[in-house]
Amino acid sequence: MIEFRNISKTFKVGGREVNAVKDVSLTIEQGEIFGIIGFSGAGKSTLLRLVNLLESPTNGSVQVQGVDVGSLSQKDVRKLRRRIGMIFQNFNLFSSRTVAGNVAYPLKLAGMPKKEIKERVAELLRFVGLTDKASDYPEQLSGGQKQRVGIARALATSPDILICDEATSALDPDTTGEILRLLKKVNKDLGITILLITHEMHVIQAICDRVAVMEEGEVIESDSVFDVFTNPQHLTTQRFIQSVQQDRPSAALLEEWRRKGGKNLYRVIFKGEVASDPVLSRVTRKFDVDVNIVYGSVRELQEKLYGNLLVSFEGPKSNVSNVLSALEEIVALEEVMIS
Ligand SMILES: Nc1ncnc2c1ncn2[C@@H]1O[C@H](COP(=O)(O)OP(=O)(O)O)[C@@H](O)[C@H]1O
Ligand SMILES: [Mg+2]
Repeated sequence: MIEFRNISKTFKVGGREVNAVKDVSLTIEQGEIFGIIGFSGAGKSTLLRLVNLLESPTNGSVQVQGVDVGSLSQKDVRKLRRRIGMIFQNFNLFSSRTVAGNVAYPLKLAGMPKKEIKERVAELLRFVGLTDKASDYPEQLSGGQKQRVGIARALATSPDILICDEATSALDPDTTGEILRLLKKVNKDLGITILLITHEMHVIQAICDRVAVMEEGEVIESDSVFDVFTNPQHLTTQRFIQSVQQDRPSAALLEEWRRKGGKNLYRVIFKGEVASDPVLSRVTRKFDVDVNIVYGSVRELQEKLYGNLLVSFEGPKSNVSNVLSALEEIVALEEVMIS
């Protein structure tokens, strides 16, 4: 669908070179929601802008549905842009046009007859839930409503791909949730492939199928959201995940645990079916050991269960060590350093 092949982008700023994107290769499949996460300055926006040729690459190529976008004529670039909708953090609406006027704009550009534009705009506003705001101006709308207009406008020309550049970063948490649900609906009901970038891991967790992590222009990790969340490889990825999933208690609480002579702590990670199997209870009962769940959660991630628990065991040493060996066969287990 979208394929970045060894793509690099270098900006020259006053005799200095900024390597914004460095040798990135990624494939975004048709129909998926693909997220790219990274801190500010990681090169995310630049990478997006290469897809619809708002930037041209210094090296490498971008293919959209098998076509190298670098080989397109001006006319074909305009056609390509109609197949790729885009929404932004700051909405980019025309303040002098009404909601309906904003949504109609790309249709006018595409030369659609007036009557058809009217029908299409009504249909789009219904889809994003803004029918009653058609004649309002952007300044009369809340942030979430503005982004709904942005989405309706991006969908106007029936694109195959929707690109979202920090689309929820200016919104409060409730409104973010609403917009993410709308994006999910765009993906599911209209079959539109979504490529989104964000610096917020909860956005990735909420709607993405796959994710790539970018740092200093490079993709440092890329996999399904489930695999990245349950087995992050890179330190930066681990930091992003910790931002949404506090998987350890505070240092103060751990210190208190140690001071009071608390037993060794182990992290037990369950994935998928194992999470519904009473593994802990079964194994500890077998060896006559008590388990104490100190901290953690079992949550749903991409429609699968994922448990991440901190536990301690009470019982004779040899029994505990039998429990540990038995558990290691079934789940991921590691001792947690209390320091
Ligand atoms: N048009 C430009 N001219 C010069 N430098 C740029 C330009 N666009 C982006 N950059 C630089 O490229 C790097 C990546 O920027 P960007 O792609 O916007 O990152 P992100 O979206 O991840 O915050 C930054 O160092 C930024 O300053
Ligand atoms: Mg950006």
